[in-house]
Amino acid sequence: MSSKLSTFICQKCGTETSQYFGKCLNCNSWNSIVEEIKSKSSKYQDIKNNKKSIPFNEISSKKILRFTSGFREFDRVLGGGIVPGSVVLLGGEPGIGKSTIVLQSAGKISLNEKVLYITAEESLEQVKIRWERLNQKSIDLKVFAETNLSLIIEEIKRVKPSFAIIDSIQAIHNHEMESSPGSVSQVRACSSELQNLAKDNNIALLIIGHVTKDGALAGPKTLEHLVDTVINFEGDNISSHRLLRSIKNRFGSTFEIGIFEMFEEGLREIKNPSSFFTNKENISGVTTTITNEGTRPLAVDIQALVNKTFYSNPRRTTTGISINRLHQILAVIEKHVGIKLSEFDCYVATGGGFEINDPSSDLGVAISILSSLKNIPPLANSSFIGELGLSGQVRKSNNLRIKIEEAVRLGTKNIVVPKLEEELNNNFRNMINIKEISNIKEAVDYSLSD
Ligand SMILES: Nc1ncnc2c1ncn2[C@@H]1O[C@H](COP(=O)(O)OP(=O)(O)OP(=O)(O)O)[C@@H](O)[C@H]1O
Ligand SMILES: [Mg+2]
Ligand SMILES: [Zn+2]
Repeated sequence: MSSKLSTFICQKCGTETSQYFGKCLNCNSWNSIVEEIKSKSSKYQDIKNNKKSIPFNEISSKKILRFTSGFREFDRVLGGGIVPGSVVLLGGEPGIGKSTIVLQSAGKISLNEKVLYITAEESLEQVKIRWERLNQKSIDLKVFAETNLSLIIEEIKRVKPSFAIIDSIQAIHNHEMESSPGSVSQVRACSSELQNLAKDNNIALLIIGHVTKDGALAGPKTLEHLVDTVINFEGDNISSHRLLRSIKNRFGSTFEIGIFEMFEEGLREIKNPSSFFTNKENISGVTTTITNEGTRPLAVDIQALVNKTFYSNPRRTTTGISINRLHQILAVIEKHVGIKLSEFDCYVATGGGFEINDPSSDLGVAISILSSLKNIPPLANSSFIGELGLSGQVRKSNNLRIKIEEAVRLGTKNIVVPKLEEELNNNFRNMINIKEISNIKEAVDYSLSD
């Protein structure tokens, strides 16, 4: 019966067939055929046709009233809380803690709003066991264990929650389609129906999606255009810290991050993240830099280990910064500090493996490397900020003011920075010892003298 309801369409050339083929018979592309439901689209169009256009100046722009997720860090990544009627996709690798954060949040939200948690992967008992471990309070929280999309939609319509969670999109299926749960076709069809339901009923919907290391595998990637907000939950299995990172947000800035730590009793927000990624030890090979993540400055340690190599090609590895960045910094040191590094292996890692994308961490990386090489600790209690140009100059950094403020807040004594505007320097002169430098050589002479 299902074959009558659905059709198979090549996403490359649009050819329609009545069954699935691995290769399109028309354009010969592989894996381009996706199952779609025939009847649905026309039915929706009929309903939608009742709508009329409105004169633009009659539309009120009343402020969006958001509600809190119960976590300040989560709210920050969402752009200030949950927007009613919005659809959020929370992606992450298996086991990273998606169900945990969402269940904790569901409990907190349910103190003020009606919440429905749909568990498609775990039984009610399994959810309850986690709930007890997390030791949460709830008021208006309902849990529904189901994988069938129609039953899920019926239940959402019956309960009328302000916030609903689907855990996870890969586990639910539309029985009108032949494709198996988790396939691109199912994931897309289920999401778009849920999306319509959320918009029509002003329900905020959070959809959980599994993402593998390479970011691919049937699913979440293909949903990104459909939802309002895409958030990734990241971390590794070794350290306990977890990051929420916004990738797309129709209601806030992207590049925001939220930082958590995983405990047996669940996720806890890290209120002072800078102290989480720094150690404040004064040993050779370690410096602190201040990077910028979203609207927030963050102090992160940079550690380097430089050893005489036993290989014909010296080893270079990085954790938390890109390997290309390291190669470039090493080249700048060779040329402009005049140290031959080809005889040395070089390992660089950030505190907690925190991923730094801000190029102003270059100076910290360079000083860490030279500090390890010379076996001299860098100038005590200092932070290093500045991007290294290819000709050895230290270039201006974005948001230098908030970075210096963060250093002051952390009680840092010295800060090594590119040349500042006079006003900025005057502002901070009495709070921190500011050393302005214009090139790498000056920075080395200042911070690594024995
Ligand atoms: N008893 C426990 N004590 C401490 N941490 C635990 C405990 N049980 C689970 N965890 C943590 O919770 C993580 C699993 O969390 P959760 O089930 O929320 O992840 P998930 O992303 O939803 O996983 P899945 O992909 O299986 O749905 C584990 O990797 C572990 O870090
Ligand atoms: Mg889960
Ligand atoms: Zn085709």
